[in-house]
Amino acid sequence: MAEIAREAGELLRTYFRGAWFVPESAGNAATEADRHVRIEYKGDVDLVTVADRRSEALIVERIRQRWPGHDILGEEGTRTSSGSEYQWYVDPLDGTTNFAHGYPVFCVSLGLARAGELIAGVIFDPVRDELFAAEQGSGAWLNQRRISVSPTPSLGESLLGTGFPSQKRHKNPNIHFYQRLTLRSHGVRRAGSAALDLACVACGRYDGFWEFNLNPWDTAAGVVLVREAGGIVTDFQGGPFDLASREVCASNRHIHAALLHEFKQVFEGKDLEPLPSPARRTP
Ligand code: IPD
Ligand code: CA
Ligand code: CA
Repeated sequence: MAEIAREAGELLRTYFRGAWFVPESAGNAATEADRHVRIEYKGDVDLVTVADRRSEALIVERIRQRWPGHDILGEEGTRTSSGSEYQWYVDPLDGTTNFAHGYPVFCVSLGLARAGELIAGVIFDPVRDELFAAEQGSGAWLNQRRISVSPTPSLGESLLGTGFPSQKRHKNPNIHFYQRLTLRSHGVRRAGSAALDLACVACGRYDGFWEFNLNPWDTAAGVVLVREAGGIVTDFQGGPFDLASREVCASNRHIHAALLHEFKQVFEGKDLEPLPSPARRTP
């Protein structure tokens, strides 16, 4: 899995350009024609590029070469269901919006389940050359070193991550959670790659992460990493995480109850901070 993720990540890097460089010939500012990779739209603000598709094609080819009987669910359209007990979850480029704008936060994410249970996950960040890998019962690793979730004891001392979906953004309630948790932690980051967010919980860069409406290819690998690094992953009520439930809350365990408490308060509409109005603005 690690070899496949690395190969796909290297492919992504060949398409990536992290700045609008001024073309040498003209000496003028860059124009839309200089964009390194053309953006297409799957939805309103749901982007896809040739890099997403090529990466998925490569990953699927490699899986089929080595494990022809395994089933695969890939974000860019791969669906095989032969009834194999092995099921892959493939996100060939997690963080497409970042990638397309040249913001260097994106990765390849490969999760594997056997008989419905997640058993392995690999996330490769080609920008930092960081390979996160975990196998059920064997721990979690970043490159060649064992990793662990953070020991941060309280929500008030934590750094958190979250994300906002690329579809139906106007219907998403996450802004209320974002606001509440920003006021009760060291901060909430929104980096734009759910798989890397989970990897950040697994290695202790974040103490917790939550998001609504993710898909199995976003979460499968990261969930194995967090569990194997000693963390916990649940739904927003504290029930077991389910790939199909589209609710994910991951943490270092120590802050989990406090996170769930804050979610409950928001769901019940309690203590909502009033939105600022111009009249109440302080100088
Ligand atoms: C997206 C990223 C993002 C999350 C979105 C996902 P994609 O995946 O993981 O962080 O907030 O919900 O759709 O489309 O870049 O593979
Ligand atoms: Ca994704
Ligand atoms: Ca993707």
